[in-house]
Amino acid sequence: MAVLVTGGAGYIGSAFVEQLLAAGEETVVLDDLSRGHRAAVHPKAALYEGRTGDRALVARIAREHPLDACVHFAAFAYVGESVTEPARYFDNNFTQAQVLFESLVAAGVKRVVFSSTCATYGVPAEVPIPESHPQWPINPYGWSKLFVERLLECFDRAYGLRFVALRYFNAAGATTRCGEAHAPETHLIPLVLAAAARRRSSVRVFGQDYDTPDGTAVRDYIHVEDLGEAHILALAHLRRGGESHFLNLGNGTGYSVLEVIAAARRVTGLDVPYEKGPRREGDPPRLVGDATKARVVLGWTPKRPSLEAIVRSAWEWMQSHPDGYGAGE
Ligand SMILES: NC(=O)c1ccc[n+]([C@@H]2O[C@H](COP(=O)([O-])OP(=O)(O)OC[C@H]3O[C@@H](n4cnc5c(N)ncnc54)[C@H](O)[C@@H]3O)[C@@H](O)[C@H]2O)c1
Repeated sequence: MAVLVTGGAGYIGSAFVEQLLAAGEETVVLDDLSRGHRAAVHPKAALYEGRTGDRALVARIAREHPLDACVHFAAFAYVGESVTEPARYFDNNFTQAQVLFESLVAAGVKRVVFSSTCATYGVPAEVPIPESHPQWPINPYGWSKLFVERLLECFDRAYGLRFVALRYFNAAGATTRCGEAHAPETHLIPLVLAAAARRRSSVRVFGQDYDTPDGTAVRDYIHVEDLGEAHILALAHLRRGGESHFLNLGNGTGYSVLEVIAAARRVTGLDVPYEKGPRREGDPPRLVGDATKARVVLGWTPKRPSLEAIVRSAWEWMQSHPDGYGAGE
């Protein structure tokens, strides 16, 4: 059988494709390269360039490969952009996903692993956040993902589409081949490392007066390979006939911005210049996930939980890919 990976030219998708191929799976990537990189796609994966909402293309892929499941990473993922361009986010993240799932069901493919996010919770009332926590996003990005979660439930009931929706906390780190090269980059670890390497003058720390031990915001960083392993386990769960689930993926440990900067200094041996900025609107003080359910349902255990190991893998990737994936797509 073959697995369709949408967004397989992006950061998390490209790393996952590597793991899927290593597991011996026939792997088909669907990506419009709007935010990803052709060079990130493993040469052993079949690449179809196009949008997830292209019914004819998805039908063609299903005719050309024996698909039995889809891992749906493709989406736009900038919170700020979603606030200024909500229509684009609802179209790309929700409407395109709806058409994709319809096309899959029409082709008889009824197993989906979906990239959801801790942004569906909004401002947490309790930390670590369990899956049962109320979901009330504070930006269109979070809503677009939450709508897909509800859509999947409806498709499960009506069409028998079984899914595992994985709510990631902060994906971080790299494999030897695949790393983070977003443009613009908004994620803390690549920004901190770019400051260490003097590719940017400094990194800005938003908020110094949160109710956290050092006053800076605390986040749960999860290695991209640990994320990928959870997707492999989710596919196995669905292939065993397992029921649909919503599962958090995080380490359950939070690190502050200053702790990330300190880890980057230790790993690189370089100074990390930073400047203090005001809090950003809508940034909760602490976002840490309770991933007990993923451990129980999938048997998943993060194997690379140390912040230093995560930062080191990102630094090594940056050293071996000084221009990211190059100037092209
Ligand atoms: N990076 C994180 O920390 C994080 C956290 C929570 C959730 N997520 C989710 O994980 C997924 C992957 O994130 P990422 O950081 O790898 O993002 P990314 O931008 O690096 O990758 C997304 C990929 O999807 C492609 N794409 C976007 N819309 C498409 C469409 N309509 N049709 C075809 N291809 C399309 C882009 O070209 C890109 O290659 C996203 O759904 C994101 O919302 C990421």
